[in-house]
Amino acid sequence: MKVAIVGATGMVGEVMLKVLTERKFPYSEILLVASERSKGKELEVGGQKVAVIGLEEAVSKRPELAIFSAGGDTSLKWAPIFEEVGTTVIDNSSAWRMDPGKKLIVPEINATELTRKDKIIANPNCSTIQLVMVLAPLHKKYKMKRVVVSTYQSVSGTGVKAVKQLENEMAGIEGEMAYPYPINRNALPHCDVFMENGYTKEEMKLAREPQKILNDTSFAITATAVRIPTSGGHSEAVNVSFENDFDLEEIRTLLNTAPGVVVQDNPDTNTYPMPVYAHNKDDVFVGRIRRDETQAKTLNMWIVADNLRKGAATNAIQIAEYLYEHDLLGSS
Ligand code: A2P
Repeated sequence: MKVAIVGATGMVGEVMLKVLTERKFPYSEILLVASERSKGKELEVGGQKVAVIGLEEAVSKRPELAIFSAGGDTSLKWAPIFEEVGTTVIDNSSAWRMDPGKKLIVPEINATELTRKDKIIANPNCSTIQLVMVLAPLHKKYKMKRVVVSTYQSVSGTGVKAVKQLENEMAGIEGEMAYPYPINRNALPHCDVFMENGYTKEEMKLAREPQKILNDTSFAITATAVRIPTSGGHSEAVNVSFENDFDLEEIRTLLNTAPGVVVQDNPDTNTYPMPVYAHNKDDVFVGRIRRDETQAKTLNMWIVADNLRKGAATNAIQIAEYLYEHDLLGSS
């Protein structure tokens, strides 16, 4: 199988190459694709040096699969061009996520929806993925009514330029700014762009994407997304009200048995999820599980995951593995 990684030189692209190798993804040839300015640059994949090519050359090679992480505009323009030559596209940008004709997939939750007809498949937002991984089993059992989430998001979610901004600020170097303000020693209640309703686009992704993934509009989510100077992963403080009451031990057992979710929750030993611990791991970690004492049938918890792995690269590659294992790649 010929596989193209579009955005191979980016933050997510780099992790994709690592995860593909780690998981021994069965490709016969790998095409590393980036912008014109990176053409010819060599990257290492599975111990081999591979030169970066442009989008047109990649299309001409007709890969069976292309995984995109090169921004929404590149996806909007190029995913349909790949589709035309028979490539199945898994897209990490927000370009196709809310398109009613495209599926939004977290494999542990809804991969069974995928068919051979799905040629452009959307990977959810990083903050959404870790949130729904924990909400899905709880929703199934107790039925969610309302979720309030506040995020503490890593600079790596913004891309190479933002990581550089933080590094520069920490070293006292003046350099290019990815954010409108300093990020070191700061917290910016501003992830992605502002919308007309006063929310940011990231907050609206968190509100809408889980309903599509869970195929259910009976619950509502409201979010505040905040960028903080961490680099290992995103954290989320989550308050969930349910229709049905719950038992805390039952919730811990339920979450511990959910695939890809790990409970780290013991106040006696200061055990709780943290970005430094989640970094480079594929699981979603949940802790600080406790009752909201101000409201019936309501739970508080803290969710952390590596936003570049399960929040992006790993989830996309899990989708690819599902397609491959279920013989869903190729023309319909
Ligand atoms: P390049 O490195 O050549 O700019 P990040 O989000 O971490 O900044 O990474 C963005 C990724 O998307 C990079 O690999 C970048 O390539 C790629 N990219 C950005 N714009 C384009 C484009 N117009 N065509 C192809 N790849 C692009």
